[in-house]
Amino acid sequence: MANVVQSLSEFFATLGLPTVLIFVVVFLLSLWMLSSRNPRVNWPPGPVCFPVVGCLPQLMISGRRRQPTDLLPWYDTYGNIMHIKLGEQHMIMLGTYELIEEAFVKNAATVSDRPNWVYYIRRLVGKDGAGVILKNGHAWKELRRFTLSSLRDFGLGRKSLQEKIQDEARYLVQNIEDENGKAFAPRDRIGKAVSNIISIIVFGARYDYEDTPEMLSVLEESERLNKGGPLAFTNLARLLFPKKKFVLMDELYSLIRQEVERHRQSFDPTDIRDFIDLYIKVTQERLDPEIFTDWNVFRIIVDLYTAGTDTTANTLRWSLVHMVNHPDVQKKVQQDIDQVIGQGRVAKMEDKASMSFTEATILEVFRMSTVAPLGGPHATSEATTLAGYTIPKGTIILGDLYRVLHDKNNFEDPYNFKPERWLDGDGKVIKSDKMIPFSVGPRICLGKGLAEMESFIFFTTLLQNFTFKVPEGENPPSGEEGLHGLTFSPLDYNVCAVRR
Ligand code: HEM
Repeated sequence: MANVVQSLSEFFATLGLPTVLIFVVVFLLSLWMLSSRNPRVNWPPGPVCFPVVGCLPQLMISGRRRQPTDLLPWYDTYGNIMHIKLGEQHMIMLGTYELIEEAFVKNAATVSDRPNWVYYIRRLVGKDGAGVILKNGHAWKELRRFTLSSLRDFGLGRKSLQEKIQDEARYLVQNIEDENGKAFAPRDRIGKAVSNIISIIVFGARYDYEDTPEMLSVLEESERLNKGGPLAFTNLARLLFPKKKFVLMDELYSLIRQEVERHRQSFDPTDIRDFIDLYIKVTQERLDPEIFTDWNVFRIIVDLYTAGTDTTANTLRWSLVHMVNHPDVQKKVQQDIDQVIGQGRVAKMEDKASMSFTEATILEVFRMSTVAPLGGPHATSEATTLAGYTIPKGTIILGDLYRVLHDKNNFEDPYNFKPERWLDGDGKVIKSDKMIPFSVGPRICLGKGLAEMESFIFFTTLLQNFTFKVPEGENPPSGEEGLHGLTFSPLDYNVCAVRR
């Protein structure tokens, strides 16, 4: 034995210190990688994971353009169910409708949690989560039911939600009319129109387009800061995530608290005007003090405002991008409008059933420009078998909605904008299970109905009043490339709106 040790030390002495150090580091890394492979867990295939950073380096390289398409080549290498390690955090990506359905619907009992333990979420809402988006278990189900029924009640109130959206669409038309057919950037005013709908529901107020409510500027700045991407799921976020993001969230909380105080001064429990009044009522009545805590109901306000603004606004922004790129489609939608609505009134939801081409066009916008490309992060609350792999408790599960909506097995020629794909031989709208821009299962978007109503009324009212064109001398905006933050938005563009 002594001989072996002596020969080894003589051998290392001949190598020199740097070589020995490299040897030791590689040896320790290999040991770490072998020991981190838990033999009881058969992870699906995925890229090589490094200590501490996991697959972040490869993600940074392939995701450098930050498009929803960046990860698509990985599925070709590793398959439709893929294991990725973000820092110390295990994550599974699901790339087909069947896998997403298996996880979010068939295994909903164990794949409906949110990963509230990750630093970024814990810092926003605390380790127990809060509200609807970031709450788990029984409390989430109760808070979700409460939010849905409150949204329904507000829709059926004195002035229905539909009328409020119709009014807002008229304001938007007036505002665009002021441009007199000259080139303008539609981005901000679309954001303000959509944000006004959620503001009416939550705060009972809308704002003129000339004023930018502080809350909206904070929200937009925070959206722009969403550059952390996958880093947000790792503990490295503690060191590397932009701190400003949390400062802005605290600012948003404080602006909403100010609004609550204003409401308290004129609060009447027999006349609930908006969600803030409901918040005051519910927290005063202490319905179920464990679930309807101040923090949970307060976070619902934040959830509605944050989830309900940029998603729908981006859908509308994309719809104008597609219209200026496809004047033939725009013309056909206008023919639908002229036949069913005419010029004398604003669109209502009942019109949709008689406007198949318009419905097909809106479906195609939702498909082609998937505004929530990776949906919301799910997490396993128990070990779960997916596609034959045993996925342990505490794994993040992402459904790649973008891939499903751009899979040529689901939609032929998926990168081309073709509303006709949604129409059968009789001109009737075809329904498809694979059309999941709002996700599937019990976590499905809570604002789906509202988003569909807003998209239909805003879109038809705009095309009823204007024909949108690319300004002379400018390039048409890209229908594919965009900015992928928390949501997927088109790059900035200008249009001309010519009065019809
Ligand atoms: C085009 C518009 C919209 C799209 C494409 C969209 C899409 C989505 C998606 C993909 C999810 C994640 C589902 C999952 O985790 O599996 C989600 C969740 C959610 N959305 Fe939307 N959304 C839109 C508009 C809205 C609006 C207008 C509201 C507000 C009323 C809203 C409120 C929510 C809430 C509260 C959740 C969390 C639900 C839960 O965790 O139980 N969304 N949405």
